[in-house]
Amino acid sequence: MSRVVVTGRIPDAAIEKLRAEHDVDAWSESDSISRSELLSRVAGADAIVTLLTEQVDAELLDAAGPQLKVVANVAVGYDNVDVAACTARGVIATNTPGVLTEATADIAFSLILMATRRLGEGERLVRSGEAWKWGMFFLLGSGLQGKTLGVVGMGGIGQATARRARAFGMEIVYQSRSEIDPAIADELEARRVDLDELLAVSDVVSVHCPFTPDTHHLFGAAEFAAMKDSATLVNTARGPIVDEAALAVALRDGTIAGAGLDVYEREPRVEPDLLELDNVVLIPHLGSATVETRTAMAVLAAENALAVLSGETPPTPIRA
Ligand code: DGY
Repeated sequence: MSRVVVTGRIPDAAIEKLRAEHDVDAWSESDSISRSELLSRVAGADAIVTLLTEQVDAELLDAAGPQLKVVANVAVGYDNVDVAACTARGVIATNTPGVLTEATADIAFSLILMATRRLGEGERLVRSGEAWKWGMFFLLGSGLQGKTLGVVGMGGIGQATARRARAFGMEIVYQSRSEIDPAIADELEARRVDLDELLAVSDVVSVHCPFTPDTHHLFGAAEFAAMKDSATLVNTARGPIVDEAALAVALRDGTIAGAGLDVYEREPRVEPDLLELDNVVLIPHLGSATVETRTAMAVLAAENALAVLSGETPPTPIRA
């Protein structure tokens, strides 16, 4: 039996899988584990199942000790994991790609609709109790039919978002490190362009690239200035890809028309200037937040940990 430490609450199905084979120490409080508690709990662990709220760095790996074999992150994004530090210690790091693709694309497209149709403003108005009535020019948004969606990062979630956009009559351009499968490009009638062209032609820009040193503040004042003044920016990837202070200025000055954010630069803090603006929809990192998806993510993370502990190749290792 190996010792498995789970650093936050995860669905029972995953805990049961782990408990069937190993000794599991799972954090069960609804508040996140403190760093000091985490460092002391991981001591002697053979596997650690982590949430994106925990930083997996050299300090944590060393606190676990040299017997540690696997860090199984319950997320597709792994900017909270120092993969090089894992590799240097012979620890395999894994993530959960695939299982949250559709749920996250649903949220990206919800934000596109909410921002372009001003649904947040409408909802706030009704709840406020203020008087309102139907009017020819009341809370007009902009339609999606015939408009262009620019997808930045055309992996699985970007493609799934583009597929939804096609059903709403949108054209697709994308910017990505590599060409996508030609059959999918044909199906979506998607054209690969560079970022400059994407910013110039898109009515909606949806961010789906991973957060790396290269994508830090990929969207700042210059990029907003290069977008149409009628454009909307949506980010469901990672907060630091967008310079939030610059976004607030662009939204306030009308450099772009609207935005929808699920993720934040210094999560859970949100740039105070954004909170003052009506033309941005703000939701609290809900991309993968369905019962089905969270269960699938946790079960996949458990399968990754179990595979490494039995000396097998895990289903979804991080290939950094
Ligand atoms: C992920 O898996 O990276 C998501 O952000 C979790 O919601």
